[in-house]
Amino acid sequence: MKNAAVITYGCQMNVNESAKIKKILQNMGYNITDDISEADAVFLNTCTVREGAATQIYGKLGELKWIKEERGTIIGVTGCFAQEQGDALAKKFPMIDIVMGNQNIGKIPSAIEKIETGDLKHVIYVGDEDELPPRLDADFDSKKVASIPIGYGCNNFCTYCIVPYVRGRERSVPLLQIVDEVRVFVEKGYKEIMLLGQNVNSYGNDLDTDDNFAKLLTEICKIDGEFIVRFISPHPKDFADDVIDVIAKEEKIAKAIHLPLQSGSTRILKAMNRKYTQDEYIALAEKIKVRVPGVALTADIIVGFPGETEEDFLETLKVVEKIGFESAYMFMYSIRKGTVAATMDGQIDEKIKKERIYRLIELQNKKSKESSLKYEGNIEKVLVEGPSKKNDDVLTGRTSTNKIVLFEGDKDLEGTFVDIKINECKTWSLYGEIVGQ
Ligand code: SAH
Ligand code: SF4
Ligand code: F3S
Repeated sequence: MKNAAVITYGCQMNVNESAKIKKILQNMGYNITDDISEADAVFLNTCTVREGAATQIYGKLGELKWIKEERGTIIGVTGCFAQEQGDALAKKFPMIDIVMGNQNIGKIPSAIEKIETGDLKHVIYVGDEDELPPRLDADFDSKKVASIPIGYGCNNFCTYCIVPYVRGRERSVPLLQIVDEVRVFVEKGYKEIMLLGQNVNSYGNDLDTDDNFAKLLTEICKIDGEFIVRFISPHPKDFADDVIDVIAKEEKIAKAIHLPLQSGSTRILKAMNRKYTQDEYIALAEKIKVRVPGVALTADIIVGFPGETEEDFLETLKVVEKIGFESAYMFMYSIRKGTVAATMDGQIDEKIKKERIYRLIELQNKKSKESSLKYEGNIEKVLVEGPSKKNDDVLTGRTSTNKIVLFEGDKDLEGTFVDIKINECKTWSLYGEIVGQ
C-alpha cells in the first residue's frame, strides 16, 4: 500500500481543501500518514498571506529533499503560495513535481499519473481562479466538526492583502447546494458545521437570485437534528441587521462572532481600504453585544501598516480595551508583492512593529483573562469532542462561544452536547462538571 502525507498551512479554507486532497488520495488507493519519511507522495498545501509562510514552506522542502532522493516521493505543492508562484516555483525547486492552485485539486489523479508515467517532468495547473471549483467529498480529521466553503475568492482588495490576487473574484456557491451539503454532514453525524468564505456576509452578491447570508443561515437552521453552525469571516462593512437578527434568534448558530478589526485608527482603516471607521466598528460591535447577549467577539488585528504612527497604534489599543475581545489573532504587517500597500511610503521599521505587537498582545491577554472570568458559575452547553490530549479521563469540548472546556466524563459522550457547570476559569480554558445531558 502506498502512503501519502498532506501538510497544511494557512487558514480554514486550506484545512477544508486539505481534507478534500486527502479524500482524493485515498480514493486513488493511498493510505494517509502523518509521517513524511514513509510517504510516497507528499502534498504541501500552502499559504502566502504573510512572508513567514514562504519561509516555512522552503524549510519543509529542504526536509523533503532527502526523502525524495531516498524514496522517489512525489512532491506536490498546492494552495495560495503555489497559485502565486506558478511555474517559477518548479523552476526554483526542481524537486517539486506538481504545482497546483486549489481550484484545480480535482486534477490531482491525472497529475500523479503524468508524473508516474514520466509523460511530464512537472505538472503545473494554476490559473482559472475565476471559476467555481468542483464540489469534492471530504473526510475531516474530527468526525464531529466539518467545514463547507460557501464562496470562493474576494472582491475587497484590502490594500495589504494578497488573497484577492491568488483566490480570484468572489464566487458564491448556490444556496441549495450548501444546504444539501450541510444536511448530508448532519446525517453523517457531524455536530458542528463551519461555513467558510473570505467575506461570508457578502454571500450571494454575485448570484442572480435574492439569496443572501441571512437567508442561507435561516435555511441551514431549518435542517433537523442537533448541531451548531459557525462561520468565518464576516466583514464589518457588510454586517447587515438581518444577519444579527438571525444569529440572535436561531439557537443553532454559535454565539461567537469573528469581527476582523485590522486597525483601530480611522486614518489607517482608510489606507487599508476597509470601508469603515473606528466609530462604525465600535457601534457595530456594541449593537451585536446588545442583540446577542453573551456573544463572544474575536478579531484579527495588524500592527505596523505603512504610515501607522504611535497615535494610530494607540487608537487600536483603545478599541481593544473598549470592546474586550475574547481573543484576537495579532499580526505584524508583512509586505506582499503586488498589493497596493507594498509600495506605500512610510513602511514601518521591524523593531517598531515588534514593540507594538508585544504591547498589543499584553493588552489582549489581559482582556482575554477578564472575559474568561465571566464564565464562572455559568452553565454552558458544550459539544464533547473527545478525551483531552494530556489526560484520557478528562474530556474536552467547546462552548457555543468557542471556549475550550475540560471536565470529567465517559468517553461515550463524544459527539453529544452536555451541560457543564463552570467552576474554574483560566485564560484559555474553563474547567467544570457535567450537570446535564
Ligand atoms: N478574509 C478574511 C481573512 C483574510 S487573511 C478576513 O478578511 O478576515 C487573515 C488575516 O491575515 C487578515 O484578517 C489580516 O489580519 C491578516 N493579514 C492579511 N494580509 C496581511 C499582511 N500583508 N500582513 C499581515 N497580516 C495580514
Ligand atoms: Fe483580504 Fe480583505 Fe479580502 Fe479579507 S476581506 S481576504 S483581508 S482583501
Ligand atoms: Fe493563506 Fe490563502 Fe488562506 S493566502 S490565509 S491559505 S486564503
